[in-house]
Amino acid sequence: MKAWPYPKLIAHRGGGTLAPENTLAAVRFGQSLGYRACEIDVKLSSDGVAMLLHDATLERTTSGKGDAGTLAWADLAKLDAGAWHSPEFRGEPIARFDAFAREILAKKAMVNIEIKPSPGRDKETGAHVAAVSAALFASAPVPPLLSSFSFAALGEAQIMSPELPRGWLTDRVEPADWDRLEALEAASLHTSHKNLLRADVDRAHKLGLRVMIYTVNDIARAEELFSWGVDGMFTDNLRVFAERFPKHL
Ligand code: G3P
Ligand code: MG
Repeated sequence: MKAWPYPKLIAHRGGGTLAPENTLAAVRFGQSLGYRACEIDVKLSSDGVAMLLHDATLERTTSGKGDAGTLAWADLAKLDAGAWHSPEFRGEPIARFDAFAREILAKKAMVNIEIKPSPGRDKETGAHVAAVSAALFASAPVPPLLSSFSFAALGEAQIMSPELPRGWLTDRVEPADWDRLEALEAASLHTSHKNLLRADVDRAHKLGLRVMIYTVNDIARAEELFSWGVDGMFTDNLRVFAERFPKHL
């Protein structure tokens, strides 16, 4: 498996809350603040085009309606994914994953691709995102880090592209997660700061795993987590975190 560099700060959904999440504008915004790494969420259109979108449905972050995975890419491409955030981003489209990947490659940036399948499409999405990621980043100096809350999706990614590093996402670390981390040959445990126990950080480190924490927006909490030895965190609070931790970008 190729190694991921695990920068200490990662721009959540590209640009945190300062730009419309999971768009190319958001990714560029995060980079303009100095972030070398971003996290994005990826799922498939009905006709199998990988795209950046967090929710299963379109209403919150686009001008569309209904289940994102039931529309063809040609229809999704017409939607506005920026106006919900603020007028300056009006007209920003949903980002295709391949266009996003080309930007990341051109900037020599780092990416954590969260595989976020539409309901019932876990294996298909995991396999497809892993395959296109391996192809698009084949000559990249740094591979993408694949992660998912879906064991089925990340397991398919492991089968499809075993060389790509993997992170297992869990909202709360349960005993079964240690078995899942082992089965997935994961490089990192990704979990919420809300439910985190320091003992879990220590246990992960003893197993040789990195520990990545979401979504940390409070500076005092970030300082506490770094003092626990966590390897990195995802933040929506991009400007404040970049000013406080410039060496962690
Ligand atoms: O990958 C870390 C984080 O993004 C997981 O939660 O819901 O923001 O995708 P969510
Ligand atoms: Mg995510």
